[in-house]
Amino acid sequence: MKERLALDVSGAQAFLEEASFRTLLKEAEDARQLLMSGKGAGSEFTDWVDLPENYDREEFARIEAAAGKISADSDVLVVIGIGGSYLGARAAIEFLSHSFMNLLDRKERKAPQIFFAGNSISTDYLADLLDVIGDRDFSLNIISKSGTTTEPAIAFRVLKKKLEAKYGREEAAKRIYATTDRKKGALKALADEEGYECFVVPDGIGGRYSVLTAVGLLPIAAAGCDIRALMEGAAAMREDCKADPCASGVLEYAAARNLLYRRGRSVEILSDFEPSLHYVAEWWKQLYGESEGKGHKGIFPAAVDLTTDLHSMGQFIQDGTRLMFETVLEVKETKRSLFLEEEAVDTDGLNYLAGKSIAFVNGCALEGSMKAHQDGGVPVLRLVIPRRDAFSLGQLFYFLEFACGVSGYMLGVNPFDQPGVESYKKNMFTLLGKPGFVQK
Ligand code: PA5
Repeated sequence: MKERLALDVSGAQAFLEEASFRTLLKEAEDARQLLMSGKGAGSEFTDWVDLPENYDREEFARIEAAAGKISADSDVLVVIGIGGSYLGARAAIEFLSHSFMNLLDRKERKAPQIFFAGNSISTDYLADLLDVIGDRDFSLNIISKSGTTTEPAIAFRVLKKKLEAKYGREEAAKRIYATTDRKKGALKALADEEGYECFVVPDGIGGRYSVLTAVGLLPIAAAGCDIRALMEGAAAMREDCKADPCASGVLEYAAARNLLYRRGRSVEILSDFEPSLHYVAEWWKQLYGESEGKGHKGIFPAAVDLTTDLHSMGQFIQDGTRLMFETVLEVKETKRSLFLEEEAVDTDGLNYLAGKSIAFVNGCALEGSMKAHQDGGVPVLRLVIPRRDAFSLGQLFYFLEFACGVSGYMLGVNPFDQPGVESYKKNMFTLLGKPGFVQK
């Protein structure tokens, strides 16, 4: 059996009084049963639960073929999308790829450069991206369920114009990959008219749970990552969550965070000790924030990159208002090895570490800060990821999605809707003078 993720709650034990934790574990099991039964709130958006097992093999093969074509005919792929149509792909690509992937030369990279667009309305970002593409060969993957989300629609307009100017409309159409609704919506209509290759954002899976659909898989595959191993990791975790939820740690995670919330801890800080996890934390923030933050309830998801932020946010975590608990993401095995060497003159005082690996130093920083935060009154959970590979990441994605569904039901909310995200859009459309939106 391949190595699994492991959750360790011992750093929060002082806050998880035994009888209460047992009660919460029972609540978590009831919530898990509800999720699996397909009878809970929002159950029409829970097709992700069985996705690692029953995903569309024909579409998967088309994704691999499209990734191969993009790699063969493009120096650059621009992935256009926002929120659930963006964060999962970026999280996976950054976790799995070389830290400076876009700067490597093409032979070493074995994939096109990947850039993201349509996740802000920044003029400078988009204009600078046009410069970076220059006159090189490129393709576009536009990802939007609705096809009318403002940010990606603006970026797509601008980038499609450049693509059509370079290749002509017909050839450009062969370089545009549309990931959108199966049947309806503005993008689907355009794609059918222009002959773009289409991939599906399934109806039964909300954006933030969609990383293992074509939404995530096409860009991840185009970046040269192993999407088969990703699905295998998710399938392995799905089996554990179904057959042996206690061993998977998923019930413990949901129970611990809900008990801590009920004890007044209304912020969860996800700490990572690897820069490659930065966007995994961004993805997690959307997953938990959008799933649980409703009805004036929910744990506010925050994230810090360590040890970087120990030099900025460390003070608050150690000693500020005691409103948080912390979940540490630890990667057990690094991909590369680097060792410190002895220097003739020990100016920086590091000779005592000669012969030690930098991973050892990072590990001590992790243990040291976990202990310090516990001593400072912060309950600390630890989620251990075996290594920086696609199988581990597939497990992690599925674990966090499943725990989120369970945790949301324990909180008493529908973890699969997001009614609150429309409010700012109404105001913005009114200010923009969009037809149908009236200035009051
Ligand atoms: O999770 C969500 O529902 C959102 O983040 C959406 O994915 C995001 O707003 C993008 O929507 P669309 O795919 O329709 O462009």
